[in-house]
Amino acid sequence: MKKVGVLGCGLMGSGIAEVCAKAGYATVVREVDEGFLKKGMDRLARSLSKAVEKGKLSAEDRAAIGGRLSGTTSLEELKDCDVILEAIVENLDLKKETFGTLDRVCKPETIFCSNTSSLTIIEMSMATKRPDRFAGLHFFNPVPVMRLVEVVKTIATDPAVYQEMVAFGTKLGKIAVRANDSTGFIVNRLLVPYLLDAIRALEQGVGSIEDIDNSMKLGCGHPMGPLTLLDFVGLDTTYFISQIMFDEFKEQRFAAPPLLKRMVLAGWNGRKAGRGFYDYSDPQKPVPQKF
Ligand code: 3HC
Repeated sequence: MKKVGVLGCGLMGSGIAEVCAKAGYATVVREVDEGFLKKGMDRLARSLSKAVEKGKLSAEDRAAIGGRLSGTTSLEELKDCDVILEAIVENLDLKKETFGTLDRVCKPETIFCSNTSSLTIIEMSMATKRPDRFAGLHFFNPVPVMRLVEVVKTIATDPAVYQEMVAFGTKLGKIAVRANDSTGFIVNRLLVPYLLDAIRALEQGVGSIEDIDNSMKLGCGHPMGPLTLLDFVGLDTTYFISQIMFDEFKEQRFAAPPLLKRMVLAGWNGRKAGRGFYDYSDPQKPVPQKF
């Protein structure tokens, strides 16, 4: 495997492209237009510059990584990739359409992977003629920092292809865990009910925003409290995942609490929106909201 195609250059796509190029792969990133592409590639360049400033990466290595990276707005340019990693918006129809096009564009051996957090991989794979060469590769935000990748096997993934993707995840410097194509895989199966419960605790007046966060940070050694993590992941993203998981399992623990729905309706989607459970007017000093 030599060349990787990354679909989408948002927060996840740019992080995925960065780890692929760092691991030595020629990496081409595709975005839908020049504006999104520039924004994503600028984010990636900033991340590499930061690593150089911190002495984690030499200027020489940075230049080599830059040489392995390229951007495009054309799906055609992914035709000779050995593996495609999709990290576009969580819209099943759009993913199916994109994979359907790539199925015609890419060579038959190319392996397709989705970074979806909660959509069903087998459903996407059926938009192609290669469900046996289709898997999930689920990364975590921030991708360059988080050490995990979930490698997801559908009922149709060829075991040899799956093994290749586990080895690929390891080559990217991640700990690869194996998961089946069950909605939310391992991490979100456990994380999402926990995050939703933190909102329910807030709704029921168990504790304040700060006290709930400090409890899990200081009492359990989590790097972030659950409400800070919700702001970090995005409330809209979490709401979307909870709906998919509730729809699949019909279990109360996956149901979105009313406050989450209302915050999403208000556009208070967390850190990226400047407002979520905290107000980020000063990003260095988030202030807990009063509801
Ligand atoms: N890109 C690259 N490096 C980054 C980064 C980024 N976006 N953000 C932070 N870092 C680096 C910093 O440079 C720093 O490096 P250093 O130790 O060499 O100086 C290191 O990470 C620690 O960063 P900070 O000191 O600034 O801050 P923290 O110690 O608070 O760490 C954090 C930040 C790594 C984000 C940490 O708070 C954390 O691990 N939080 C939990 C994140 C998490 O749970 N992610 C998973 C979300 S769920 C998900 O993605 C799945 C989806 O399906 C929902």
